[in-house]
Amino acid sequence: MELPFAESYRIKMVETIKRSTRQEREQWIKEANYNLFALKSDYVFIDLLTDSGTGAMSDRQWSAMMLGDESYAGARSYYNMKNAIKEILGFDYFLPAHQGRAAENVLFSTIIRKGDVLPGNSHFDTTKGHIEFRQAVAIDCTIDEAKNTQLEIPFKGNVDTAKLEKVLWQYPREQIPAVVLTVTNNTAGGQPVSMENIKAVAALCKKYGVLLLMDSARFAENAYFIKTREAGYADKSIKEIVREMFSYADIMTMSSKKDAIVNIGGFVAFKSQELWKSCQKFCIMNEGFITYGGMSGRDMNALAVGLDEGTEFDYLETRIRQVEYLGMKLDEYGIPYQRPAGGHAIFVDARRVLRHVPKEQFIAQTLGIELYLEAGIRAVEIGALLADRDPVTRENRYPDLELLRLAIPRRTYTNNHMDVIAVALKNVYDRRDSITKGYSIAYEEPIMRHFTVELEPAETRKEAVEL
Ligand SMILES: Cc1ncc(COP(=O)(O)O)c(C=O)c1O
Repeated sequence: MELPFAESYRIKMVETIKRSTRQEREQWIKEANYNLFALKSDYVFIDLLTDSGTGAMSDRQWSAMMLGDESYAGARSYYNMKNAIKEILGFDYFLPAHQGRAAENVLFSTIIRKGDVLPGNSHFDTTKGHIEFRQAVAIDCTIDEAKNTQLEIPFKGNVDTAKLEKVLWQYPREQIPAVVLTVTNNTAGGQPVSMENIKAVAALCKKYGVLLLMDSARFAENAYFIKTREAGYADKSIKEIVREMFSYADIMTMSSKKDAIVNIGGFVAFKSQELWKSCQKFCIMNEGFITYGGMSGRDMNALAVGLDEGTEFDYLETRIRQVEYLGMKLDEYGIPYQRPAGGHAIFVDARRVLRHVPKEQFIAQTLGIELYLEAGIRAVEIGALLADRDPVTRENRYPDLELLRLAIPRRTYTNNHMDVIAVALKNVYDRRDSITKGYSIAYEEPIMRHFTVELEPAETRKEAVEL
């Protein structure tokens, strides 16, 4: 008999999590103004809000933390991080930052001017926020197939190179500071980009003299999919694939809270010494001196080890098979999600679940609230709330997809938790036709509103207006 699959680690330390009653959850979500970000974590049983910084570090990482060198300048920990970035990713120069968006800030303060355009594949929300904040424009060139959640293709995160070339041809070179290639493509469902597509994008960048920036939060998961899905890569190690991926990039930004498996940290890495130098002042002004940039020595040490562990096949296989396991459970219950299962998350197709909730009432957010009420599970909306308003017209943007992302933290939950998540969703799915109303906005910020938005049940507002 073939042995079943099991995790490539065992558990050494645990953290208690608590169940709650539906009545308690109704009270708590109301007090949180129906914003899942505003809930206390103690009010959550299984937290799938994000896989960012929420993973479990290994014994090797914790022991590396004890050896952290906290010198202000030139710390050993900085050199440990530098060596890992050079050996594993192939970049000679880097600036540490306290997380991914801070790395974006350091880079974009240097390279983006008002009126610039940055084409890419479904820019992440903070990336887009940083671009739009500088009155530049992010142009999405993701393949159209990514919009059909039921279509099963191996590299749904790819760039449509014809769309990209049109943008590169249309705008003068000086107006395009970089092409932003996000690996894996988080917003399109944690979907990978093939090596063939990476090469094609890099070739276009070369042809038009534009820099290629890889937003690399989940680069290792992307490499796993290349190894397991793309012809010619099955016999290569993850580390070999990673080196090849980055051989095509000029710059990478990294949220180390994902594939470097740390709770906080990030960096921007460069091939060009000149660009590295011109970004340094923004690191010093916003993050800290160039050899720590907002990170402690112990965190830099843990990051260096995390880069090594995060690019091991056994670790990645355990991680991605857990996400697939949750997908298989949802298949059993007929719940639609972005297919195939993504690297870090399952993205439930909320529009196919809640058919009676109008788009103006935030379909995926409504599903997220229902899932929380059902079982204390916290997911996150990737839909109209996140899409925010058009920076020029200020009209709400309604994206093609309304997704509820169930992000799985690394090395944190067991498959029993996956079973609870699947059954909770099934229960919501079974009563889907009774859910006919969503939520309306009571308060929102001018930019990146989803983090702090305050909502109210849609009918309450209507009544209030009528009164
Ligand atoms: C693709 C991508 N880029 C950038 C970021 C920003 O990173 P951070 O949350 O560390 O600021 C994220 C965070 O989720 C992300 O998924």
